[in-house]
Amino acid sequence: MSHSSYRVLSNHTGKMAPKGVVGLDKIPQQVVNKAIRLGFDFNILCIGETGIGKSTLIDTLFKTEFNSSPVKHNQVKVALCENTYRLKESNVQLRLTVVDTVGFGDQINKVNSYEPIVEYVDKQFERYLLEELRPNRNRLDFHDTRIHACLYFISPTGHSLKILDLHTMKALDKKVNLVPIIAKADTMSQQEIVAFKARILEEIRANDIHVYTCVDGNGGAMEPVGMPYAVIGSREMVLVKASKVRGRKYPWGVVEVENDKHCDFVRLRDMLIRTNMEDLREQTNSNLYEVYRSAYLEAKTDYQPFMSSKQIQNAQEQRIVRDREIDRLVQDKLSAKEKELKQIEIQMKEEFEIERQKYTEEKENLGKKGEALRKESTEFQQVKKHMEASRTSTLEKMKAKKAK
Ligand code: GTP
Ligand code: MG
Repeated sequence: MSHSSYRVLSNHTGKMAPKGVVGLDKIPQQVVNKAIRLGFDFNILCIGETGIGKSTLIDTLFKTEFNSSPVKHNQVKVALCENTYRLKESNVQLRLTVVDTVGFGDQINKVNSYEPIVEYVDKQFERYLLEELRPNRNRLDFHDTRIHACLYFISPTGHSLKILDLHTMKALDKKVNLVPIIAKADTMSQQEIVAFKARILEEIRANDIHVYTCVDGNGGAMEPVGMPYAVIGSREMVLVKASKVRGRKYPWGVVEVENDKHCDFVRLRDMLIRTNMEDLREQTNSNLYEVYRSAYLEAKTDYQPFMSSKQIQNAQEQRIVRDREIDRLVQDKLSAKEKELKQIEIQMKEEFEIERQKYTEEKENLGKKGEALRKESTEFQQVKKHMEASRTSTLEKMKAKKAK
């Protein structure tokens, strides 16, 4: 992937204090505790045509005037302009990066206007991934520049989404938390806004574009209430019933930014900063980054992201040679063992045969000896019988002689 086709126009870092309560202190206590210790990063990408009100809305959201020095809009390609600010409210430190698309929609051929934006988003994921893969990663000081929320500014035409809007949203919907907003909502009537919102949602669904959703009461996914937000931005404070409010003054009256009867600005700000900031960060880390991470690692064989393809090929070849050598050694060892066992078996058989023959011979000899002894005993019995008979006859003869 080449990263040369987008240009980052400026990289400004400044310390800012909001001129009023933004609500950073309303995020959950756990996050606050962590944030007090470490500070945290939140990065917003603003996509919208030139002059649609991006800078004004960001200033309105954070109640301050960020660096929005005008950039020339005669870009051949869309350029990304990033600015980082440190905001502090109560104890909470926020490192906010606002990324602006300069020249979006200005080119005659708008077909590939979204490509530099996609590359920019991927580049931030890659940067994070490479840091994660480092043996000694620097978790505390590392500036996480992954985009947590993408505000997509829709022109208040009252018609429908433009082809450029559909292409861009589709190209980004799996990479960012997409938050569509209708810019300059004060240029439309209430009825027009209702109808325009319905049409936008219809087109988003028809084109299977995935916008940011959060968890509803039943554990399902739902778009935050009010989306696509119809918003108004203003850096001015105007007088309404003796009090100063943020708004835009017209000959016929004042439109109040923070009045939810006039627009969805408060809903957007609450969602973005007060209620869903942690969820946006969490979804970026657990879902969007995870998809990028597994695709990236799968693309790099053997999980070796720092190897060139030539190095990977060499490593694979070396591994094949090494595996074959191991197979050969194992085979040799097995054959030698088999031979040795066969030899032992033959030897044992021979020894057994010798023992068997010895036993047979001994058995035969014993048989013969037994036979001879039996014969000797019979002969002895016969001699004994004969001797007893002759002794008896001699005694009888002597008795007869005595009697005479
Ligand atoms: P570039 O950075 O030049 O692309 O413009 P941008 O999108 O940042 O717009 P910017 O905030 O500079 O606003 C352009 C003009 O629109 C300014 O004159 C603003 O006062 C005006 N403007 C901004 N927000 C609103 C709004 O909600 N309603 C109306 N009517 N005008 C607005
Ligand atoms: Mg601007």
